[in-house]
Amino acid sequence: MKILSLESSCDETAAAVVEDGRKVLSSVVASQVQEHIIYGGVVPEIASRRHVEAVSGVINKALSDAGCTLDDISAIAVTYAPGLIGALLVGVNYAKGLSLASGIPLVPVHHLRSHIAANYITHQELEPEFLCLVVSGGHSHIVEVKDYTKFKIVGYTHDDAAGEAMDKAARAMGLPYPGGLNLDRVAKDGDPTAYKMPHPRVDGAPYDFSFSGLKTAALNTINIAKQKGEEINVPDLGASYIKAVVRCLTENTEKAAKDLGYKKIVLAGGVSANSVLRRDMEALCKKNGWELFAPELKYCGDNGAMVGAQGYYEFINGNTADMSLNAYATMSIE
Ligand code: KG4
Ligand code: ZN
Repeated sequence: MKILSLESSCDETAAAVVEDGRKVLSSVVASQVQEHIIYGGVVPEIASRRHVEAVSGVINKALSDAGCTLDDISAIAVTYAPGLIGALLVGVNYAKGLSLASGIPLVPVHHLRSHIAANYITHQELEPEFLCLVVSGGHSHIVEVKDYTKFKIVGYTHDDAAGEAMDKAARAMGLPYPGGLNLDRVAKDGDPTAYKMPHPRVDGAPYDFSFSGLKTAALNTINIAKQKGEEINVPDLGASYIKAVVRCLTENTEKAAKDLGYKKIVLAGGVSANSVLRRDMEALCKKNGWELFAPELKYCGDNGAMVGAQGYYEFINGNTADMSLNAYATMSIE
């Protein structure tokens, strides 16, 4: 069964054709990164306008790269929440129009569910149940994935998401957007013990995160150095900062996995591309005798293929939508 999928929740217009939730026949991503660089982050209105311009071409290319026409497609899957509302509306409305015109069923897909499903593409053998650390620009969750469409949040962030914390610190260090990616690159040459960073915990909630104090510590380090006329060593501060963020992510995931009895650990979301997180999580899983799964780097960030993967499981579980489908800026994964 072939699913045509569409993603427009942030700054990538992406489409794909995915077979049976696992096999990517095509995946097209039109990134707007260059456009947003001068602003140091995503400008929502610009994002919406670029989606409007790109969406039709991206869908057509996904179909032609897969050697398909709409006649071969069993369902149209679209990201409908959460994300930038103006950006989501472009994809949702396009998918509704396509579904109405063609009579092909419409399948709404939750963005974080699709990030998790990126793993089904990379790891054909992976099946629920497992424990998943979902870390993106807007969310940081520890989620029990009980089935393909059944999720339970066991830990969440009380303030900034991990990706947001990476982006804000990177910006303060003078690194260009996209901050998390550039911070990871620069920090590869840094000494992670050079700067002392706090280790924030949330009282009484051992699986929850709080990154705003960590971000403030990095900003204070930069400001104090400026006032003293001292130079910040960006690779060293970047490495120290990433180490502190990753320590929170790995420690809480380890505790949750032990308490809840999971031996299969999965990473998902844009931050799952982080080299330190992948390395440290691998070491942690090895130490405990657990299996670790992470998406291929090209499927860590936003893409259409992951929407097609999750869309397949939503569709076979009967999750379809009619023409009343709307987009939502926030929505729980549960
Ligand atoms: O999942 P994603 O592509 O979009 C959202 O759904 O938010 O995640 C984007 C986030 C950004 O905050 C970006 O800086 C971060 O993922 N990111 C990284 C890396 N690559 C992307 N953070 C740390 N290290 C990376 N290599
Ligand atoms: Zn995302």
